[in-house]
Amino acid sequence: MKGKHITLAVTGAIAAYKAVFLLRLLRSAGAEVQVIGTANSLRFVGRETWEALSGRPPLFDLWETPDPSKIPHIMLAQEVDLVVVAPATANILAKAAGGIADDLVSTVLLAATVPVLFAPSMNTAMYESPATRRNIALLAEQERIHFIDCASGSLACGSAGKGRMAEPETIFGRIRYLLTPKRSEKLRWLIAAGATREYLDPIRFITNGANGATGRAIADAAWRQGAEVTLVAGNMPAPLPSDYAVRPVTSAADMHAAVTGLAPLCDVLVMSAAVADYAPVKSASKLKKGDRTKELSLESTPDILLETLPLMERRALRVGFAAETENLLENARGKMERKALDLIVANRVSASHDPFGAPDNRVVLVTPGGNEELPLMDKETLGELIADRIYDLALQKRSR
Ligand code: C5P
Repeated sequence: MKGKHITLAVTGAIAAYKAVFLLRLLRSAGAEVQVIGTANSLRFVGRETWEALSGRPPLFDLWETPDPSKIPHIMLAQEVDLVVVAPATANILAKAAGGIADDLVSTVLLAATVPVLFAPSMNTAMYESPATRRNIALLAEQERIHFIDCASGSLACGSAGKGRMAEPETIFGRIRYLLTPKRSEKLRWLIAAGATREYLDPIRFITNGANGATGRAIADAAWRQGAEVTLVAGNMPAPLPSDYAVRPVTSAADMHAAVTGLAPLCDVLVMSAAVADYAPVKSASKLKKGDRTKELSLESTPDILLETLPLMERRALRVGFAAETENLLENARGKMERKALDLIVANRVSASHDPFGAPDNRVVLVTPGGNEELPLMDKETLGELIADRIYDLALQKRSR
C-alpha cells in the first residue's frame, strides 16, 4: 500500500466510527489517505479525529481548497488510486446512482474515473428497499464500481438484520485486492495450511504449534493477484477467510481426503500445513486415568504431498514446506526430490528460533536451481513474497 493514494469518503451513519479503524489500517499499511465527508458525517466523528489519524485536514465542503492550484473534487476523484465510501448511506448511493452532485462527496463520486468501493450501512428496511436495490444494481453495472456487502447483526436502531457496515478489516482486505495488479492467468491454487489434530479419544488430541499464518498469507496474496483459491484449513485462528473457498478439516486423514480430492483440478499446490506424521487409533470413549503408565500406539498417516503426485497435471506447480532441527538444506533438498517439488520453503527450528506459532520467520527457498536465504520478516510479508515467487514459477512452468 506504500505510495498509494486513497480518498476515504465518510457519510452520515453511525458506522463512521468504524471508518476510523479503517483509516488506521490504511495508514499503518503506508497509504496516503485524504478524508472527505458529508456535513452529516460530522454528527458522528469530528474533524480532529480525522485530521489526527490521516495527518492532513479532512474536507467537508466543495469550496475548501487545500491547494489553490488544484480543483479539489477533480483531484480527489481522478488523481488517486481508489475512492472508498465507508460508510455509504442510502442517500449517497441514491445520489451517486442518479448523478446528483450537490456536495463534496457526491461531486467527487460523479467526477471519479478511478475504482470506487462502497461499504453500505443502513437499517435493514432501507437496505432491502426497492430503491436501494435498484441504485446498487445501477451503480454495479459499471466495472469500476465495487460493493462490499453489509453484514447481519444488531443495528443502531435496536433491531437486528442485514445492514451493518462490513468490518474495517474486511474493507481493508478488499481495498488491497482492488489495488493489487492481477496476473496474466487466473491459476487455480490449492493451499493446505494450519495444524492437524489427531484425536486419542473424544476429548484429547495430539497437535503442534503451527497457526497457519504463512499459508493463510500465501492464500490471501494469491487471491489478491487474481488466483482462484481454495484453502484447506487445518487448525488456525478464526475468522477463516470469506473472500475465497475454504474447506475446514481436523485430522491428517480429513486433510488427505480434501487435498487428494481437489489436487487434480489445481494448477498450484502449496502444502504448508503442519501435518501429523503419526496418529493414534481413536478410542470411542474417554480414556480413563488410574494406570501408572499408559502406552499410546501410533500409526503413520499418509504422506499427502507424495500421494498427490500421480493425481496432478504435469504442468502444475508443487510446493512443500520443511521444518528441520538439523541438516536443514540437505533434508529439504531430499524432500524436494522425493516428493517431486518445484519449491520447498525450509524452516530452521532451534532452541533460539521456533517459527511455530510465532509472528515472524526466517526461511530458505530451495528450488532445483539453488537456495535463497530470506531475512527475518513477519509472516504476512513472507507469505506475500512466497506467493509472488510461486506465481512466477507456476507461469514459467506452464509456458515450458
Ligand atoms: O517429510 P516431511 O513430512 O517433513 O515433509 C513436509 C512436507 O510434506 C510439508 O509440505 C507438509 O505439508 C507435507 N506433508 C504431507 N503429509 C504428511 C506430512 C507432511 O503432505 N503426512
